[in-house]
Amino acid sequence: MKIDLSARAPELVELMDDPDADLAMLERTYDRFRLVNAAVARPGLLLRRDILSRARRGPVRILDVGAGGGDVSRMIARRLRRDGLAAEVTALDADERAVHWAEANDGGAGVRYRRALAADLVADGERYDVVFSNHVLHHLTDAERQEVLEDTRRLVNPGGVVVHRDIARSTAAYALFDLGTRALASSFLRGSFIRVDGLLSIRRSYTPRELRAVAPPGWTVRGALPARLELRWEEPAG
Ligand SMILES: C[S@@+](CC[C@H](N)C(=O)[O-])C[C@H]1O[C@@H](n2cnc3c(N)ncnc32)[C@H](O)[C@@H]1O
Repeated sequence: MKIDLSARAPELVELMDDPDADLAMLERTYDRFRLVNAAVARPGLLLRRDILSRARRGPVRILDVGAGGGDVSRMIARRLRRDGLAAEVTALDADERAVHWAEANDGGAGVRYRRALAADLVADGERYDVVFSNHVLHHLTDAERQEVLEDTRRLVNPGGVVVHRDIARSTAAYALFDLGTRALASSFLRGSFIRVDGLLSIRRSYTPRELRAVAPPGWTVRGALPARLELRWEEPAG
């Protein structure tokens, strides 16, 4: 069946967002995110461009919104420690199933895990130097997206940055993910939601042009290869 990717399909529901999802499959999905992120999301770019430069100037506070299994936070925490740079990394998720799994699999990375919304941290008066998300924007309704953008902007220190990273919807992205995961569906990805949810995610995702059209004033959208986009806010230095 040919999938129509000409418009977003926000009505589609990902299996991992079902509160009654099979827990073993959900946990295997959190575990497999690590390799999907390494192959698809390439968070090393965020680290090099936005985090290391700030961390070299002094201790940094970093917030990962919608951290899921927490692998991106752990990669960042480990790299900063390896470089002898002082940092506090917090992985936030609205779903307590994700927070429990991530906490149990920290493996000494020293990330702080918290079940909360960005709005709760705003209410607590928290501030960070780098606030980011990975593969979260496409999960949100229009109202949730507006709220998350407003809250994350309020969470950032002068001189800090907010970077919401996501998939960019395209026929090529869908075809590549379909092909790449088909071969692994009966082995590495078996018993996880990665393949089904990944394909649904691409259909729910924005193109750079669509994201620009809904971005509030002051936010910028960048597209990047392969099939990536970034919604950024930079807070002027105080
Ligand atoms: C596809 S997962 C991405 C997980 C992780 N960032 C990664 O890249 O592997 C999306 C995560 O966002 C979380 N999430 C969705 N809406 C959220 C919100 N408003 N606040 C915090 N977390 C949220 C979900 O619970 C889920 O764990």
